[in-house]
Amino acid sequence: MCGIVGYTGPRQASRILVDGLKRLEYRGYDSAGIAVQVDGATGAPPVVIKRTGKIAELRQAVPKDMAGHCGMGHTRWATHGGVTGENAHPHTDASGKVAIVHNGIIENYMALKGMLEKQGVPFRSETDSEVIAHLVALNYEGDLEAALKASLKHLKGTYGIVCVHADEPGRIVGARNGSPLVVGVGDGEMLLASDVTAMLAHTKRVVYLNDGEVVTMLPHEFRISDGDERRVDPRIDHIAWELEAIEKEGFSCYMEKEIFEQPDSIERAISGRMDHENGCAKLGGLNLSKKELHGIERVRVIAAGTSWHAGLVGCQLLESVARIPAAAELASELRYRNPVLEPASLYFAVSQSGETADTLYAMREVRRRGGTVLGICNVVGSTIARESEGGVYVHSGPEIAVASTKAFTSQLAAFYLLALEFARMHDMSHHEGQRFLAALREVPAAVRKTLAVRDHVQALAKKYCRHADFLFLGRGILFPIALEGALKLKEISYIHAEGYASGEIKHGPIALVSPETPSVFLVPGDHLREKTISNMKEIKARGGPVIALADEDDELVASIADDFIGLPKVDPRFQPFTMVVPLQLFAYFCALELGRDVDQPRNLAKSVTVE
Ligand code: AGP
Repeated sequence: MCGIVGYTGPRQASRILVDGLKRLEYRGYDSAGIAVQVDGATGAPPVVIKRTGKIAELRQAVPKDMAGHCGMGHTRWATHGGVTGENAHPHTDASGKVAIVHNGIIENYMALKGMLEKQGVPFRSETDSEVIAHLVALNYEGDLEAALKASLKHLKGTYGIVCVHADEPGRIVGARNGSPLVVGVGDGEMLLASDVTAMLAHTKRVVYLNDGEVVTMLPHEFRISDGDERRVDPRIDHIAWELEAIEKEGFSCYMEKEIFEQPDSIERAISGRMDHENGCAKLGGLNLSKKELHGIERVRVIAAGTSWHAGLVGCQLLESVARIPAAAELASELRYRNPVLEPASLYFAVSQSGETADTLYAMREVRRRGGTVLGICNVVGSTIARESEGGVYVHSGPEIAVASTKAFTSQLAAFYLLALEFARMHDMSHHEGQRFLAALREVPAAVRKTLAVRDHVQALAKKYCRHADFLFLGRGILFPIALEGALKLKEISYIHAEGYASGEIKHGPIALVSPETPSVFLVPGDHLREKTISNMKEIKARGGPVIALADEDDELVASIADDFIGLPKVDPRFQPFTMVVPLQLFAYFCALELGRDVDQPRNLAKSVTVE
């Protein structure tokens, strides 16, 4: 949730830290701060500057010529304590010599705080994190790494911690347990951050820390050790993302850019994974033999939010195309409901970030019980990806906007390939497999054509954005897309929206229908079309405005709806791709119209690393 960046090297630290925080702002944006060691003044407390609000506020407060070559920064998403300057990180001990930043939650901080206060330690903030600074100071005997390790023994909860001490110029120490930390290995300089976007401008050589590991770094060296004091041989990975991928490149915000990237990102998700000759998928990363895959009798998906919606589509496909029983579970529910793990089941943890705490903990619970979990992730090297026994990277490229768009359609693409993989092991013929692949190959072009609805959707957003409530209605494979459309609208425009199965509205939600409550209908091109049209008429009969999305040549739907969005005709099984794009655009334009901060909506963070 929060973002962390640390730097030690020959360059001006403050600039690198503030720029890094700007890159991480999507992780949390209620307050931010930096702490920079004073050059050549061993023993002088690091200079701390903190501000509430966006990184721009912090940037203004940091002197352009601020000296110092070692320090760290933090952008906060509040958990314990309100949004104030005192609660912003970095936190220091009473002497000011120790400065720390922290992501995660220290669950026993109340007990630790009580214990420290009894010893006369003064607290300045309401955060759980401040105890870490005081513990490190109490344990400090000239060795920051040893002091941090001694302090970690008292902490219960999750953390990514970075700290510096006034008596050890140029040294940064970090520790990870449940909150990601990545070491960036530069040329005569080192970085440490909660995700790679903060360091992409400086190095592409990274080492992902594992839980329980502690790193100590100086400009020319770093050392990693585990909880048992054993030295860990670092594996240096190379980040494949280009710097341009995290720039807005002429778009007004990241969400708009990411919506328009989808033809390319879907292409990346499927390219090299289609065996046209044999009419099947090539998914090398599953790490399961054909025989093992053939033995799978059911699939379970674990995910949250938009990734869960992708899982819902995936499960319908696995059942209808591959005839494998499948169900998608909300990760936050699965972990605590004592799930029964049926034999011959295969679990998929789906996560854009690969760091979502709910999904990670649910996945660990399944693995602890002996289940096999594969990952469908975007971020390479993320925790879920590394803890999975195999899986599929969706290759969307960095997704910066809080509202997930391109990662969703790439996750869908992964499920279409998986469904084909399983289907071809069971009842799907060679010819049918080739037809399925041909339709999948058409998806990027169909999405490109769909994007032409941009101006029309913008006009509709202008017309409807002042309504306080919306219904999004879909059936079958489009029901999860209705859920996704409603989620997008809620999260960035703050308009209340409910996603519902169209057939279900007469069982209750139809009571909400009035001229003030528009319904957005997703009309499929298959056997459910007529039923959906009946549902539209039910709404119209009660005075509810109807916006309908359907095949562009569907004149009947166009004649019933108040507003009609015609979409390129695709095989109905592939309509989730074309239907979701106008809904993403609708949410985006409503938010824009209402003056919302599209990329950084209130109260939300990009990756939810706390439960
Ligand atoms: C999507 O728009 C949301 N911001 C959110 O629901 C997100 O999909 C969810 O938190 C899961 O994230 P993940 O895919 O990174 O695990």
